[in-house]
Amino acid sequence: MRRILLENIASGMKLAKPLYNADGMILLNAGIELQDRFIDRLKELDVSYIYVEDDLTQDIDVPDVIGEKTRVEAVSSAKKIVEQIKLGRGVDAAQAKKVTNTLVDELCRNKGVMANFSDMRTRNDYLFSHSVNVCVLSIMTGISLGFDELRLQDLGVGALLHDVGKIEINPDILNKNGRLTVEEAEEIKKHPSLGFNLLRSNPDISLISAHCAFQHHERYDGSGYPRGLKEDQIHQYAQIVSIADVYDALTSDATYRRAMPVYEAIAIITKAGGSYFDSELVKAFVDNIAIYPIGSVVRLNNNQIGVVVDISREFKSRPVVRILFDEHKQPVTKLIELDLSKNPRLYIADVVER
Ligand SMILES: [Fe+2]
Repeated sequence: MRRILLENIASGMKLAKPLYNADGMILLNAGIELQDRFIDRLKELDVSYIYVEDDLTQDIDVPDVIGEKTRVEAVSSAKKIVEQIKLGRGVDAAQAKKVTNTLVDELCRNKGVMANFSDMRTRNDYLFSHSVNVCVLSIMTGISLGFDELRLQDLGVGALLHDVGKIEINPDILNKNGRLTVEEAEEIKKHPSLGFNLLRSNPDISLISAHCAFQHHERYDGSGYPRGLKEDQIHQYAQIVSIADVYDALTSDATYRRAMPVYEAIAIITKAGGSYFDSELVKAFVDNIAIYPIGSVVRLNNNQIGVVVDISREFKSRPVVRILFDEHKQPVTKLIELDLSKNPRLYIADVVER
């Protein structure tokens, strides 16, 4: 399979993974041929990219750090937790811990697998898939830092629930297209404190997890909010969550801009090490990310276009690329795979997402 922006999709392509909604229901199944009506449906759902397969890419699997079932269930639990809070029933700590436990278990078992893009998201379900992604990325960072399971659990619950305060923000402001007024921006900035209050009112949620919600917009250099804390005034777990939060936001579509390719987002995060973020934590975070995820389509410096099929941890920016189009933009018919770690003259010039 390979990853493609929805706007570049052509009818007749085959969907390579099922598309789920946040209730865990399949909206479109894997293997269906994308005729116009399905493409219209994807547009309606505001899915920004999808995985398709064709003859040259059908054997490429995008390894996810967690199983598809686990991800789908985690997203639907995240949604249920939010719905319960909206109904005034408070935070379902047992549910949050159960989800986190499953993720911690699976991530500990899959140590060594790097985070690839893997979920296809619909715009409506952003908050829930974002929570799960931030949770997964935070736990992976914790594992890199050598955290034991108890710490991973507190970190994971905090990461999963870091944005719950948004429930109490006016959705018209939260989902506004275009620039926010000063007042609106101030309103949104209340969500860390609102989330903290929600979480700490439940004695079954650890206070450290509650602090992830409270402090995830604080920045290492003191430029964040709500309190302008800096360096070790910010709890380490909250610092980890803030890196994962920014990374996942950059690599997702937002109302005002397109999702950024991973390598660009990683460049921004790395550059912010020492200012917005602690550099050691940035290192632990970046360590787990596939800069050119498997399934992404890239242009090499010799103008050949191909799909990333394999990556090694040692040479993350020099993956194995299967060529799809030659330097004259002609589709290739035979299988050519170039291991960039062994071809020093070749490098990835660009991610093309088509
Ligand atoms: Fe937030």
